Amino acid sequence: MMSDDFQKRVEESIRNPRNMGEMTDADAVGTVGNPGCGDMVRMWLKYKVENGQKVIDKASFQSFGCETAIAAASLATELIRGKTPEEAANMSGSELAADLGPLPPTKIHCTQLIEEALRSALITKKPEVVPGAETSAPASLIDSLDNETSKDSSLKLVFLDSDEQKR
Ligand code: FES
Repeated sequence: MMSDDFQKRVEESIRNPRNMGEMTDADAVGTVGNPGCGDMVRMWLKYKVENGQKVIDKASFQSFGCETAIAAASLATELIRGKTPEEAANMSGSELAADLGPLPPTKIHCTQLIEEALRSALITKKPEVVPGAETSAPASLIDSLDNETSKDSSLKLVFLDSDEQKR
């Protein structure tokens, strides 16, 4: 069954998730939440210049989300390395999580959450991280959201409209 295959790929991907955790030297960060399921994803990006072009050097994520969102974020953070911000911004959730195969309808929003977190990071500036102060960094995504939304108005928590028609 397709959904069994899908579930297997998700499980494989989350067994050894790539790029999970805060990136303290990131150039950009984006956070999104889905009010429908209550899941949240934050993505960090670091850029470099390659052949005179700005490209994504590395990406990382933190997720309070379902397994599909974690698997998709893990795959996406690998996939976007070396891409320009424009190329990355044009990728849909299902492209970012292409390795998961066809998505069951109930899981499409999970990869859209990753797409939105990436887009949010692409348009958001450097996170407020004081070099050398990583130890005082908020312990969890929820804590840091509370902190940052109150003191940093540049951080926007974008809630996705689950009925939103994509493409
Ligand atoms: Fe909400 Fe997967 S169930 S992101």
